Amino acid sequence: MLAAVPLSVKRRAVPGRYRQDAADVSQRELSVTIVAGVRLEASKPAASLDRLVELLRTDLAGVNTLILERMQSPVALIPQLAGHIVAAGGKRLRPMLTLAAARMCGYRPTDDARPRHVALAAAVEFIHTATLLHDDVVDASDLRRGLATANSVWGNKPSVLVGDFLFSRAFQLMVEDGSLKVLAILSHASAVIAEGEVLQLVTSNDTTTDEEAYLAVIRAKTAQLFAAASKIGAVVCDRPEAEELALESYGRNLGIAFQLVDDMLDYSADEAALGKTIGDDFREGKITLPIVLAFARCDEAERPFWRRTLEELDQKPGDLEHAVQLLRKHGALRDTLERARDYGGLARSALDLFRDGPEKRALIEAVDFSVARAY
Ligand code: IPE
Ligand code: IPE
Ligand code: MG
Ligand code: MG
Repeated sequence: MLAAVPLSVKRRAVPGRYRQDAADVSQRELSVTIVAGVRLEASKPAASLDRLVELLRTDLAGVNTLILERMQSPVALIPQLAGHIVAAGGKRLRPMLTLAAARMCGYRPTDDARPRHVALAAAVEFIHTATLLHDDVVDASDLRRGLATANSVWGNKPSVLVGDFLFSRAFQLMVEDGSLKVLAILSHASAVIAEGEVLQLVTSNDTTTDEEAYLAVIRAKTAQLFAAASKIGAVVCDRPEAEELALESYGRNLGIAFQLVDDMLDYSADEAALGKTIGDDFREGKITLPIVLAFARCDEAERPFWRRTLEELDQKPGDLEHAVQLLRKHGALRDTLERARDYGGLARSALDLFRDGPEKRALIEAVDFSVARAY
């Protein structure tokens, strides 16, 4: 796990609880705790993000510096709360897609203090971080990146508002970049992510949700940002449309595979390795692919269980364990992983257009990691 964050994570609901000393989140403290792509050694899957992290070490350091710089605000609660989730680490997968795609397309930073691909990768991570802050409020989640979520520490209101702040910071970075095309791609992605989260609300607690409706949700809430992050790598290099589309397809299929695995892990992961609470989806009545498959395959006797727990949200101790048993009995977790492998294959073949090289190999390994991951 990443180094412990030097911020306290338990706060009481007392008057003035949002008042913070700006010195709490000094750049120095945060900069020593951010190490992208480093997680528990013990649970490392066979494929890892190490190749990407290694290849992009300098660029990633630039991304992290920029994130720290741009999350600052004279309103101390903003860097306090943002610093909590940023310093907790995260895999930095989406910004690495932008960086690697740009390099694969021939982007060579000039002497600029701040190369374009680094600034845009930071914008992508800001969008991702904003969606996590909002998502944890919507999902009432308690654990993120191995730490208490911002909403459980500070409450929903600051989490939503600081999420808005980070979204805005992302847009400022895009405007500084000056490419309307990049702005179009990332602003479209932001709107689609929000649509996906709303669409998911609509399908929640509805056991008639089918695989197609589920796929529409994950394409929007997750795969769209993966696709955009990858595509802008080709855009900053002015590459032909075929390369933009190939990278977009790579990102989209990778994102779908990534979320499928995430939804499987929500029932089967080791909580410490995942850094999130197992069973969140079940408790909220979220209809993910494992549930869609198990519900479609279950007999009449099992249906009332799913209806009670997921539709009526009437849950008792032991229900989650019983749900996992049913998922396993019907091969729903296995087949969700199988689907993820299929989408992973599509992501891999989307890169056929590009010549072999270290970036391409690292992007392929990111697919293998996303399918095999435990966190
Ligand atoms: C979490 O994404 C949200 C999902 C799409 C499942 P990540 O698993 O990439 O989160 P971090 O950034 O590594 O924490
Ligand atoms: C994550 O969805 C997608 C976004 C953050 C937009 P989930 O709700 O499935 O992801 P986790 O499990 O909270 O990371
Ligand atoms: Mg969530
Ligand atoms: Mg969610």
